[in-house]
Amino acid sequence: MFTPQGPTLRELTRQALSSVEHGYDLLAPKFDATPFRTPDRVLTAVAGALEDLGPFASGLDVCCGTGAGLPVLRSVCADRVAGVDFSANMLAEARRRHPTATLVRADALALPFAPVFDLAVSFGAFGHFVPEAQRTLFAQVHAALRPGGTLAFPLPAPPPVGSRTYWTLWAFDTAMRLRNTLWRPPFVMYYRTFRLADVRTRLEETGFEVTHLPLPTLGTRPDDSPNCRLVVARKV
Ligand SMILES: C[S@@+](CC[C@H](N)C(=O)[O-])C[C@H]1O[C@@H](n2cnc3c(N)ncnc32)[C@H](O)[C@@H]1O
Repeated sequence: MFTPQGPTLRELTRQALSSVEHGYDLLAPKFDATPFRTPDRVLTAVAGALEDLGPFASGLDVCCGTGAGLPVLRSVCADRVAGVDFSANMLAEARRRHPTATLVRADALALPFAPVFDLAVSFGAFGHFVPEAQRTLFAQVHAALRPGGTLAFPLPAPPPVGSRTYWTLWAFDTAMRLRNTLWRPPFVMYYRTFRLADVRTRLEETGFEVTHLPLPTLGTRPDDSPNCRLVVARKV
């Protein structure tokens, strides 16, 4: 799963016993060599789908990390491209890779933006927000979007019940819950708290109109449903 350029087991353990912010500060220099960085094929699929929905003027990557999503924004946004993250070291890596992007250090639960963005994206970060925090997060993104603006993010289909991936994610979330019961500060990262029906309800309650599109290049499941969808939430 990890390459020789990635973190050692010892480094990962230290990160996992830290807060989310400090954990990512520690992981930042090696983050792009881990499977936690959103893979290029997902980014390409999202960029392709957004092309059909655009063009957009300004774009924001929420929880941008080292900046994996910034080229997606760059490909569909004519004006300013920005990223926001609370880890200073992840942002430093993003700054090195994307010197022309506007990068802002802030908590996504308290975004420091007026409603200036036409598009917001987010990749691989929603597991860091428990359901109640997801409502706050969506409200913050809603407030940063212009009227009619779009929040878009990929959402993988849940693995079939009983499959190897199902049990792996179940084991991960269970271990994380145990860790967070026994250890402070908590490291919130759960894979099974972000499902389409719940997410849709939370987005609608926040003032978004929600649709979703299949991302066909990411393949289908045995029943022909997509492996991954793009959730498209428009600010009404
Ligand atoms: C798994 S990484 C994903 C990074 C990048 N979007 C990608 O796909 O490669 C999650 C990122 O979310 C950031 N993050 C988590 N909780 C956050 C919060 N409350 N406010 C801002 N950033 C947050 C972390 O610092 C980290 O950079």
